[in-house]
Amino acid sequence: MSDEHEELTLDPADWDAFRALAHRMVDDMLDHLSSLREQPAWRQMPKAVRESFNRPVPQQGVGDAAAYSGFVERVMPYTVGNPHPRFWGWVQGQGTPLGMMADMLAAGINPHMGGFDQAPALVEHEVIRWLATLLGMPADASGLLVTGGTMANTLGLAVARHAAAMKMKLDVREDGLQTDAGVPSRGRFVFYGSTETHNWARKAAELMGLGNRSFRRVPVDLEYRIDVAALARMVEQDRAAGMLPFCVIGTAGTVNTGATDDLAALADFCRDESLWFHVDGAFGALVHLSKELRPVVKGLERADSIGFDLHKWGSLPFECACVLVRDAEMHRAAFASSASYIEATKRGVIAGGLPFAERGLDLTRGFKALKVWMSLTAYGADALAAVIEQNVRQARRLAELIDAHPELELMAPVPLNVVCFRYAPINRLSDAALDAANEEILLRIQEQGIAVPSGTRLGGRYAIRVANVNHRSREADFEVLLNAVVDIGREVVK
Ligand SMILES: Cc1ncc(COP(=O)(O)O)c(C=O)c1O
Repeated sequence: MSDEHEELTLDPADWDAFRALAHRMVDDMLDHLSSLREQPAWRQMPKAVRESFNRPVPQQGVGDAAAYSGFVERVMPYTVGNPHPRFWGWVQGQGTPLGMMADMLAAGINPHMGGFDQAPALVEHEVIRWLATLLGMPADASGLLVTGGTMANTLGLAVARHAAAMKMKLDVREDGLQTDAGVPSRGRFVFYGSTETHNWARKAAELMGLGNRSFRRVPVDLEYRIDVAALARMVEQDRAAGMLPFCVIGTAGTVNTGATDDLAALADFCRDESLWFHVDGAFGALVHLSKELRPVVKGLERADSIGFDLHKWGSLPFECACVLVRDAEMHRAAFASSASYIEATKRGVIAGGLPFAERGLDLTRGFKALKVWMSLTAYGADALAAVIEQNVRQARRLAELIDAHPELELMAPVPLNVVCFRYAPINRLSDAALDAANEEILLRIQEQGIAVPSGTRLGGRYAIRVANVNHRSREADFEVLLNAVVDIGREVVK
């Protein structure tokens, strides 16, 4: 090595100094998490902070301590606030201190989770078996941890498409969905879900070359559950028109109202019609962990594939979700491919190959499985079930308080943990005025840092929406919210 090229590493020059900084990071973060209740639920970002994210590329570094200060001053205080006990917006989980530390440990050993012959791969295999068992799927179902519900569900739909094509002796992996692939007059592949299905299905249809038109939206009943009779009629009509129905999506916990389709009826229908049954259980699938609530998701365990998040009701830090596929061979067949530089050997580091890379799109993957493994080991599945039951109890109690209040109106049934309501004083305003007033109430509650619910529209009318997956919330937190809605509502309407 010549003198002018000093050998570099990005490790700390002074390990003791770095150790002190690293301890400070952990201490700061634990101080932050243990004092969330004393902090506002949300802070508006000052203009100067917003504008500070416009620096040129740092060509010369300023050191790890200064980089950390930037995080403490400009990043940490200005998030959406989802770890807070009064955060119920969209469906965002809170995370846990243990999950945070597991992510740190995972990054420390930094394994490549395509597979390989290593303990982290056994951790992921074990976690997938645990999750399959917990959701009532066979213990030998295949699975993969992925970034989120969108990816988990998209992979499930891709396996469904592959399975359907195989039945028709089409090689959709080789030929795609192009109609010149030797079957010129073949009809359009179509799949079904209710009008309440999350937007992932549209994205997946677009990405997979099926096209949004191939996602057939089935009407819902008054409880926002798929109308199974309408589904049957649509499938029949589509077949008569030469289309190729291949999959039905049932949702366990819709994003708007927390409704769950009649999954048992959908399972029966799919069995009778030889259709793939996929369940989007982004947050609702984990309801199966609770003996008390399990009847709500009855039929989930009969799915061909399930996509669900662990970063919502599983309380793990982002990102973590899972797809389970009952037919392990079909799962592999939908994605496996080979390349000489990653061929499995009989011994050595790549013995066993890259099973996880063969179940989805990613080759290099992080060690998400560790936080699932450590959390389930530390808390036990019963604790997760108890949090889910607590959140549902809280949501039902919130609904009762809303029902009992003369100035509040419940806007949808509350089968699980989502409560949609509005401020609606007795001297009734028009729906348009109520929409504007409630949006204003929501924004003021957020801006004043009181709480973070989000908004939605149900039947065209604006609703304040509480989606409660929060293991930190207490009953009193919901009372704080309702008092604020009424106080601010009176002000706004005045
Ligand atoms: C029912 C449902 N499906 C899918 C998703 C998408 O999941 P993710 O945000 O993890 O990609 C969500 C997210 O809220 C959801 O509620």
